[in-house]
Amino acid sequence: MTPLVRLESLSKTYTLGGAPVHALRDVSLTIDRGEMVAIMGASGSGKSTTLNVIGTLDRPSTGRYFLDDEAVERLDEDALAGLRNRKIGFVFQSFNLLPRDTAMRNVELPMVYRGVRPSERREKARIALERVGLGSRAHHLPNQLSGGQQQRVSIARAIVNEPLLLLADEPTGALDSATTAQVMALFCELHAQGMTVVLVTHDPAIARYARRIVTFRDGVILSDVQNRSRAEAIATASASSLEEAS
Ligand SMILES: Nc1ncnc2c1ncn2[C@@H]1O[C@H](COP(=O)(O)OP(=O)(O)O)[C@@H](O)[C@H]1O
Ligand SMILES: [Mg+2]
Repeated sequence: MTPLVRLESLSKTYTLGGAPVHALRDVSLTIDRGEMVAIMGASGSGKSTTLNVIGTLDRPSTGRYFLDDEAVERLDEDALAGLRNRKIGFVFQSFNLLPRDTAMRNVELPMVYRGVRPSERREKARIALERVGLGSRAHHLPNQLSGGQQQRVSIARAIVNEPLLLLADEPTGALDSATTAQVMALFCELHAQGMTVVLVTHDPAIARYARRIVTFRDGVILSDVQNRSRAEAIATASASSLEEAS
């Protein structure tokens, strides 16, 4: 099988006040289609840098990155933006929804950039909102939704173009534990439907939902293990999401 993500001897060095900061050093990592991977590590260990490179929001200083067999470093900004829009969905800790737009309109946005016509946009946004259990909240504004619902809108926005890869950086960092379980159950469901999911977290309780856990320390991979307690975490999450009255 062709790996979806292939990082080869990747390094990222920032310069801060004239001094180099080695965010990543010689990292090699392969992620296959259909995996669900958690990237763990303490604050400052390089998790977000890794996710941003995978998501083509940031370029490595040295090393190579192949996404779906395409050498990303060869692409110019326009080509990268196109690839990002077609192949990658992002979820952030702070939701990043436009406050004056309805849930529906927020989910439509990635298709506006792609030039999809309005009727098709609305239909796809409606389907994506239903997939995250928010079909009845399409016309609500973000501030009329709970934190967990807002994060589900942002997940709907991330999946509306049917990306190959769903990336999430601390997606439950702003949520309480009951809502966290619902959002994690949703990631697991999308993964079960075939989506490749990579999520960053510093919280072992969140990492438990992933099938594979890659841990960083000081910009290098400390460990890369299969997760055996996954089934239990998912069972707990599904139970609590069934209790939800949406
Ligand atoms: N834009 C930047 N400029 C300078 N240093 C940065 C920048 N982004 C990240 N860093 C540094 O790189 C290291 C890794 O950061 P990051 O990937 O954000 O860690 P994590 O997400 O694990 O907390 C940290 O030391 C951080 O301070
Ligand atoms: Mg981070």
